[in-house]
Amino acid sequence: MAHAIRFHKTGGPEVLQWEDVAVGEPGAGEVRIAHKAIGLNYIDTYHRTGLYPLPLPSGIGLEAAGVVEAVGAGVTEFKVGDRVAYCNGPIGAYAEKKVHPAERCVKVPDGIGFEQAASMMLQGLTVQYLLRRLHVVPKAGDTVLWHAAAGGVGLIACQWAKAIGVNIIGTVSSQEKAKLARDNGCAHTVIYTKEDFVAKVNEVTGGKKVPIVYDSVGKDTFMKSLDCLQGRGLMVSFGNSSGAVGPTDLGILSAKGSLYVTRPTLMSYVGKRAELVAAAGELFEHVLAGRIKVAPRQSYALKDAVQAHRDLEARKTTGSTILVP
Ligand SMILES: NC(=O)c1ccc[n+]([C@@H]2O[C@H](COP(=O)([O-])OP(=O)(O)OC[C@H]3O[C@@H](n4cnc5c(N)ncnc54)[C@H](OP(=O)(O)O)[C@@H]3O)[C@@H](O)[C@H]2O)c1
Repeated sequence: MAHAIRFHKTGGPEVLQWEDVAVGEPGAGEVRIAHKAIGLNYIDTYHRTGLYPLPLPSGIGLEAAGVVEAVGAGVTEFKVGDRVAYCNGPIGAYAEKKVHPAERCVKVPDGIGFEQAASMMLQGLTVQYLLRRLHVVPKAGDTVLWHAAAGGVGLIACQWAKAIGVNIIGTVSSQEKAKLARDNGCAHTVIYTKEDFVAKVNEVTGGKKVPIVYDSVGKDTFMKSLDCLQGRGLMVSFGNSSGAVGPTDLGILSAKGSLYVTRPTLMSYVGKRAELVAAAGELFEHVLAGRIKVAPRQSYALKDAVQAHRDLEARKTTGSTILVP
């Protein structure tokens, strides 16, 4: 048996419950991992509220790092004692232990701790595909707009962009978050709860606007984000922290200059094992070289997941957050 956070109905943070679960032995192709740190991600709130529906009752959480304590038949890449991390399903990372498909795990290199790994797998691999592998990616010297630049994905994006010579105009909701984003390499910040970010983009770019907007805020920013794009620019709508964007008239894309839109998910970019291993390798390389610094900025006991969700949704967190079993 182990403790896990589960939910039986969708709703606010209070639906998350601390329960005993049977973990069992790993089957063919699986490993059992004793979690040392679990990543908190905004997608966990979408699962909890039902925005992204799951069959109920359900576990929650997609990301953790820990030690392999049992190996199922046919697993050759991992052995008992290996330090591993993962960042996608099957869901249920908010747990002391979990049986997980071996092909979804990567080894955590020496020099990277469990808390660090759980702070960066999901958010760091997201930045990897957004900045490096979409159909259109920014090149050195480009200026792009990135919403929620002081968040978990945001702070890694600021550092990764700086490392490849890309300037980010980052939106944030407070002065403190603006300073944090700039300290992490964000070239320009705008407090979008007080200032007009479209005007800021025009000011910074001398009216040229940007070739790419990365928008994970969704409902509150989507339409104005389109106004920040150059003709034939790319709108990357990759999240809904303020609510889902909802149905949109495609005609708006022609009216605003033959714009492109993509609505990507991490799983489409690391679904193949070779992609997962390559992307994680690239992230780990940046971290080990000191070009990207990641550490949890908030840490909660796993049984306090309710409070962690409250703080994340109240915009009280910055950077990455972990839950510790
Ligand atoms: N599609 C993908 O592959 C993928 C993968 C990972 C993450 N994501 C998305 O990327 C976004 C960031 O994820 P994260 O885990 O790193 O979270 P996060 O950025 O640490 O937290 C979300 C941030 O969104 C901003 N925000 C704006 N309006 C908000 C509102 N009404 N309520 C709450 N927050 C609001 C807040 O920053 P300010 O206070 O500065 O506004 C908040 O801190 C999420 O939308 C997530 O779903 C997508």
